[in-house]
Amino acid sequence: MSSKKCRGKNVEAKVASTFLKAKGAVNKELKQYLDRFHCGSAEKLAQKLPPDSIDTIVTSPPYFQQRDYGNPKQIGQEPTPEEYVASLVRVFTALKPAVKESGSIWIVLGDKYEKNRLLGMPWRFALALDDWILRSDCIWHKPNAMPSSVKTRPTTDHEYVFLFSKSAQYYYDADAIREPHVTFSENSKMRGGRNHFGKRGGTPEQGKNSGDLNLHDGRWDQAFHPLGRNKRTVWSIALSKFREAHFAVFPEQLVETCVLATCPLGGVVLDPFSGAGTTAVVAKRLGRHFVGFDCSAEYCQIARKRLNAIDVD
Ligand SMILES: C[S@@+](CC[C@H](N)C(=O)[O-])C[C@H]1O[C@@H](n2cnc3c(N)ncnc32)[C@H](O)[C@@H]1O
Repeated sequence: MSSKKCRGKNVEAKVASTFLKAKGAVNKELKQYLDRFHCGSAEKLAQKLPPDSIDTIVTSPPYFQQRDYGNPKQIGQEPTPEEYVASLVRVFTALKPAVKESGSIWIVLGDKYEKNRLLGMPWRFALALDDWILRSDCIWHKPNAMPSSVKTRPTTDHEYVFLFSKSAQYYYDADAIREPHVTFSENSKMRGGRNHFGKRGGTPEQGKNSGDLNLHDGRWDQAFHPLGRNKRTVWSIALSKFREAHFAVFPEQLVETCVLATCPLGGVVLDPFSGAGTTAVVAKRLGRHFVGFDCSAEYCQIARKRLNAIDVD
């Protein structure tokens, strides 16, 4: 072997070993946070996380002036919408270095009326977080929302679920969250139904289905994926029934969609406002690691108890 080649091999080996050591160091650093709940302010704890360690964030922060958690570190009791939005933005800005380039955030937010005027809090926040790329605004529709006595406007039965990515190229597994094709359901109004599958030119707008407003135009052989249609932006999911917490926990089904879409198997999901630990419960069940932050020691304790109670094969 020529000395030049030999030198090349040594350099390569050194780079690999340095890389592995660095990787080991990161993992070791991350290990102390992994699969645990940490009590403290989300913004402060965010700064301690090792860089490039989180695949996705799935969270539901306290809403504006909704619930006083009686904690000096809490977010949500700021006097103005602007200050509330600024507090939230600070948390997600602080978290950015810890998230991988391929990483993302799912954030569930509800709105608020002040003197009968809708404040538009979810959108104020979504537009303010311009350091991240806003990728989708999903609607969480609650079929079992509490009835209300309002008579001058519709009863609110939805919240927003925003998806942000750190970079343009981010991890998103569309196949993991596909939903059933509506047109091919039991109630399908399309004559010939599944025969359209995989057929070039199998467009229903001509022929015996023409004029059926239930059907869309276009190349059906491309539109109908065998695993189902691409996930839609309106998610109808009933409110959760976990009663130990003094606040509304978000439903496991909602968290499941987020985790499956943006965290690979064995990856790391963070909830910086982990409350009763719903994100962690789902992450564990789906074979992902989790990190939970909450400023309340009581809620961290509730979440630990809840997580220990679940069995995973
Ligand atoms: C709406 S709850 C989250 C519920 C959670 N998604 C679940 O399913 O259980 C919001 C949580 O944020 C916590 N919190 C409020 N301000 C915080 C802060 N600055 N840092 C960390 N946690 C905070 C509260 O203690 C509360 O547990």
